[in-house]
Amino acid sequence: MTKLVGLTGGIASGKSTVSKMLSQVGFPIVDADLVVHRLQQPGQPGFERLVDQFGQSILTAAGQLDRQRLGQMAFSNADTRQELNRVMQPLIRDTIFDQINDLKKAGMPAIILDAPLLFEQHYDEDCDLVVVVAVNYENQLVRLMARDNYSRVEAKERVDSQMPLSQKEKLADLVIDNNGDCQQLQTQVAQLVKRLKSV
Ligand SMILES: Nc1ncnc2c1ncn2[C@@H]1O[C@H](COP(=O)(O)OP(=O)(O)O)[C@@H](O)[C@H]1O
Ligand SMILES: [Mg+2]
Repeated sequence: MTKLVGLTGGIASGKSTVSKMLSQVGFPIVDADLVVHRLQQPGQPGFERLVDQFGQSILTAAGQLDRQRLGQMAFSNADTRQELNRVMQPLIRDTIFDQINDLKKAGMPAIILDAPLLFEQHYDEDCDLVVVVAVNYENQLVRLMARDNYSRVEAKERVDSQMPLSQKEKLADLVIDNNGDCQQLQTQVAQLVKRLKSV
């Protein structure tokens, strides 16, 4: 039986860093952010739906989806965020489960689902193990500012708009503490790998 491992956390808590480490030791990753990105390419079903819903103003001059603009709109307006989810989440869910089912058919013993909205979109209900990558507020802000070139205020707004990381930690089967350096993170990932290989 294939084990489905949900991997989540807050923005810039280190999900992608952990999933990269797991990928390097051979675990297949279903990356929800990548799924969204692909669905939003011109010609893909997500792109069509978004243009139908929000109009041409969400496109760049080159006809690509202006992800930054859409992100800003969604982030600053709860109604837009709700519409965006209504339009996109069913497509995202179907694509994620298509990928999971293909990997199951291929006989993979474990699959990692890296999904920022794992709890919010209830993917945790389908997971055999839920792992939360956690950091303290200050580290999260500093890493987010450095990664995405945000001011402290912009970074705070984004962190504060999410489900609190402390709440996610309570819902986890396993919490990875990413307040240390990458070596300390690697050590914890190695322990997780051991656990996944023993079941
Ligand atoms: N232990 C760590 N020490 C220093 N920087 C880290 C550590 N873990 C992650 N980072 C950096 O923090 C940023 C956020 O990590 P990332 O994995 O992209 O987060 P997420 O996928 O959760 O948004 C990235 O720039 C990453 O390189
Ligand atoms: Mg990421």
